[in-house]
Amino acid sequence: MSVEPSRDWLGGIPESPTEDWEVAFGGRLYDNWAVAIDVAEPHKNHSSYPPWGKKHGYVTWRCKECHGWDYKGKDGAYREGSHYSGIKGLRGLVGKNPAIVMEALRDEVHGYTPEQLPDSVAERLALFVTRGQHDVDRFIDHESSQARGDAGQGERIFQNVCAACHGFDGKAINFKSEENPEFIGTVGSANPWEALHKIRNGHPGVPMPALRFLPIQNLVDILAYVQTLPKM
Ligand code: HEC
Ligand code: HEC
Repeated sequence: MSVEPSRDWLGGIPESPTEDWEVAFGGRLYDNWAVAIDVAEPHKNHSSYPPWGKKHGYVTWRCKECHGWDYKGKDGAYREGSHYSGIKGLRGLVGKNPAIVMEALRDEVHGYTPEQLPDSVAERLALFVTRGQHDVDRFIDHESSQARGDAGQGERIFQNVCAACHGFDGKAINFKSEENPEFIGTVGSANPWEALHKIRNGHPGVPMPALRFLPIQNLVDILAYVQTLPKM
């Protein structure tokens, strides 16, 4: 099955955006800003990405690559493995003034240009960082990666929302290849932090709904159900 991409930028911005919409847009920028607003991806490594790091090119410019899907950087899931960068997380920014984030984005450490992240866009990213994060350890068991949710409750939302695109077994969209398939069941178990981020904020560049307007426990229930789906 294929879904026509509808990029946020081309899809436009509502005339009077709700805070939920703005923060979710910011969450998609945190995930993958160049895809979210359809601008050119830089090819060289980001200058603050450590030279010994295992990633190359544009991915080193994505907020999640240095600061993590759990917003905890070197103290979170990226504390080891191929995504390790040794960079701190952004949990300390929760409740802070978004202007601090705006300043950080233009500083020497980051150097995002207004062509890459126009102010009007960066402002939403700053809202996400200061108001949109959740405390992952409350919702996902750090040792077992199990969502602390009720899969039975999650199934009710899943069948009525997610299945429209992903299918009842989560296998209607394969993110990788025939030989090496990856479905939502795969991602939900291998990287529940990423899955929860996307359930709340949507997936950049495609019309997947952002459900952050619902109480987060409902979304953790969905994640618990996704973890029961086939992984291959
Ligand atoms: C290549 C790695 C890298 C990427 C990509 C990156 N950052 Fe950072 N970020 C850093 C480093 C390094 C610091 C400084 C950490 C320190 O002070 O020790 C930092 C610090 C920050 C701070 C200040 C943290 C604080 O506690 O004061 C904010 C805010 C921030 N980053 C936001 C972002 C956002 C939003 C994005 C995505 C647009 C992003 N960063 C992408 C490396 C990165
Ligand atoms: C309108 C269609 C649509 C709906 C509804 C939808 N999704 Fe998606 N979702 C997509 C598309 C398209 C992608 C990206 C596919 C790709 O990159 O190949 C995606 C990507 C994802 C990913 C990211 C996988 C990855 O690693 O990149 C996750 C996780 C996900 N969806 C979970 C869900 C869940 C859970 C729900 C229900 C709350 C949901 N989606 C509802 C269309 C949808």
